[in-house]
Amino acid sequence: MSDKKLWAGRFSEPTDAFVEAFTASVEFDQRLAPQDIQGSIAHATMLVRQGILSEDEREAIVKGLNLILDRIESGRFEWSIGLEDVHMNVEAALTAEIGEAGKKLHTGRSRNDQVATDVRLWLRQEIEQIQRELQRLQLALLDIAEREAETILPGFTHLQTAQPITFGHHMMAWFEMLERDASRLEDCHRRMNRLPLGAAALAGTTFPIDREFTAELLGFDGPCRNSLDAVSDRDFAIEFTADASILMMHLSRMSEELTIWSSAQFAFITLSDSFCTGSSIMPQKKNPDVPELIRGKSGRIFGHLMALLTLMKSQPLAYNKDNQEDKEPLFDTVDNLRGSLKVFADMIPAISCNPERMRAAALQGFATATDLADYLVRKGMPFRDAHEVVGKSVAFCVAEQCDLAELTLEQLRAFSDIIEEDVFDYLTLEGSAAARDHIGGTAPAQVRRAIAGARERLRKGA
Ligand code: ARG
Repeated sequence: MSDKKLWAGRFSEPTDAFVEAFTASVEFDQRLAPQDIQGSIAHATMLVRQGILSEDEREAIVKGLNLILDRIESGRFEWSIGLEDVHMNVEAALTAEIGEAGKKLHTGRSRNDQVATDVRLWLRQEIEQIQRELQRLQLALLDIAEREAETILPGFTHLQTAQPITFGHHMMAWFEMLERDASRLEDCHRRMNRLPLGAAALAGTTFPIDREFTAELLGFDGPCRNSLDAVSDRDFAIEFTADASILMMHLSRMSEELTIWSSAQFAFITLSDSFCTGSSIMPQKKNPDVPELIRGKSGRIFGHLMALLTLMKSQPLAYNKDNQEDKEPLFDTVDNLRGSLKVFADMIPAISCNPERMRAAALQGFATATDLADYLVRKGMPFRDAHEVVGKSVAFCVAEQCDLAELTLEQLRAFSDIIEEDVFDYLTLEGSAAARDHIGGTAPAQVRRAIAGARERLRKGA
């Protein structure tokens, strides 16, 4: 195949060798080849229908492109830097393969609308894969939540003991985060699903094309409405990377909690050996590498979001070569997000909980102090006064080094004589959690309701 530039007509000097390599994108955009070929076949089909190409020409093009795809997929295709990008590599190979008809494929289109189409086709499919991994993770969380609906652990604010919660409730909080992520991705997918092809270089084409037909062939909801916008818009890449950033931020928060919980000092959970690694010097170590690495990877994805925003900032209409820089951040975001979700979804079912450790931890730090205050309120005391009374009781316990539930009725009544024997029902961890029995509360009954609702929504969405 000749490396002759497809645009060389008006040039009298050859491209500087370094510039040739510097401006080429084929090393990374070759992964768009399947979408490039898919788009070309749809374009050729539309051209035939509009009487611009003959059926014989289309047949040769389709046959040639499929042959090239096969060569690419089996690693037998020779990519050329001189041919700059995936689009010109494929087109040159096609012409080498089938002759004249190959040269007609580019009628009524430009690489500008071609690349915008390829990236959308590719990302659309990746989002669908990501949604599947995300759903697998959501289902894993529901299973743990169900298993641990009654398991008590301390809930924290400021990482200080706050109130007893159930582990199932904690897992359902994670689930909520992921459900918002799924709906953001769905939204991004829907907005992105319009066809740029037909915008040609920037202004449209003089050929009588049928963009709605091409859109239909490629599974788009319709063509982009403005040709200038169609070739220059990269909002979908930014939106996706923003969604990915929020999702990675969530995974980093979950990873942080898994890391803390699996430390010897907490020991709330044990991660499966298959998701941890050891130390080359300290024989006792079992490090939570997977959650740590995911926590770390969130940083590079936030970076890609910033890169894409900056790439598009101040760009005049329409296509500019700057846009070639959209691919590497986008590809890296997809690869790392998919990897993180996959390993997370594999890791979660393999977590084992240590309910005794969680319970012991919940008994430290006066987790039921609010319950005592609420008890006093139910007996008629204004909340502010109750807060004060309980604060004093806690100070007493701190000095005596005991828990509220360990005080005698006499000792408690010294702080308020409206306290009666039934107070102890409210000072237990289980009583405290079970009492928060309303939508969104931590009571095991509510956790089970939340799980049922979540399963129903997943079923409907699928
Ligand atoms: N490789 C280019 C990109 O990724 C394809 C479009 C090139 N268009 C152009 N007019 N140079 O953006």
